[in-house]
Amino acid sequence: MRLLVTGGAGFIGSHFIDYELAHDQSIEIVNLDALTYAGNVANNAQAAGNARYHFVHGSINNRELVDWLLQEFAIDHIVNFAAESHVDNSLKNPELFTKTNVLGTQVLLDAAYQANIQKFVQISTDEVYGTMAPGQAAKETDPLHPSSPYAASKAGADMLAMAMVHTFGMPICITRSTNNFGPRQHHEKLLPMLIQNALRNRPLNIYGQGTDRRDWLYVKDNCAAIDLVLRHGQLGQIFNIGAHQEKSNNEVTKMVQAELGFSDQLIRHVAERPGHDLRYSLDTSLIETQLHWKSQTDFAFGLHETIAWYRKHQR
Ligand SMILES: NC(=O)c1ccc[n+]([C@@H]2O[C@H](COP(=O)([O-])OP(=O)(O)OC[C@H]3O[C@@H](n4cnc5c(N)ncnc54)[C@H](O)[C@@H]3O)[C@@H](O)[C@H]2O)c1
Repeated sequence: MRLLVTGGAGFIGSHFIDYELAHDQSIEIVNLDALTYAGNVANNAQAAGNARYHFVHGSINNRELVDWLLQEFAIDHIVNFAAESHVDNSLKNPELFTKTNVLGTQVLLDAAYQANIQKFVQISTDEVYGTMAPGQAAKETDPLHPSSPYAASKAGADMLAMAMVHTFGMPICITRSTNNFGPRQHHEKLLPMLIQNALRNRPLNIYGQGTDRRDWLYVKDNCAAIDLVLRHGQLGQIFNIGAHQEKSNNEVTKMVQAELGFSDQLIRHVAERPGHDLRYSLDTSLIETQLHWKSQTDFAFGLHETIAWYRKHQR
């Protein structure tokens, strides 16, 4: 397989590259990353020494560049992680999210279609379904109700990808996962923020009452799921990926506190993010029955590993 990974200097993409290089001894990987504030070549330190890994600095919005590298490296598979990924930023600059997440994805889809790519995996999110009532879990066939500009831009990309499936029969799959956690995540996200601030004895800002609920998926489990979708997902299939480890932000904070032992006084409840969804939850029966995937990493164990990594890599 000759695989283009976009956004591979970010959190999930960098783990996915490591996963593929370790599990497929004949794979060649090209990582196309614009190195925004969220990208970091240090995330690819493990891959960088591998002769089957190549880094290209550039944007998925650059059609000429994308056309060139698909041809130059004879790419036959693509996984698109590249995105603006932080909801807070999307409230301040929604246009950037539309440009990268919607238009950038369309550029990749068009180039992939022209290059006759064998499989294209679009990385989406549970946020496209919108908030879920207690006991409710979204199925892949449910309508999309994105709340934030971030979620709307990801939903837009999903719609464009599905349009390419229906119109041209393009071999595309979509994955929609819950909240990933693990080493190398940018400190703007909840868990790294909690860990890094606690390690420095700085205030931990929690939105609203801290009752928002998310399902926590260890990043390496997500990589295993994406790999199965890349190799075995069928034309136009969408797969939810989740760990069934739903926790409120307060519960997550308490678990970090139990590991790091900081004072309650560091915890500050700040104004709720506008339009914040209270709960996300996915029905993951499709990937579990069809691709025999199940999340492996218990939240407490993954949290322990993650904290150990941040201790070692304190900025
Ligand atoms: N982190 C999560 O919990 C989560 C959950 C579900 C889905 N996702 C999705 O997974 C994907 C990866 O998320 P992440 O958390 O690793 O994000 P991240 O912000 O850590 O990484 C994004 C990467 O994309 C790169 N990038 C941004 N714009 C680009 C462009 N125009 N061209 C090329 N590269 C560009 C950045 O430099 C960065 O390396 C995203 O599509 C996100 O929507 C993330």
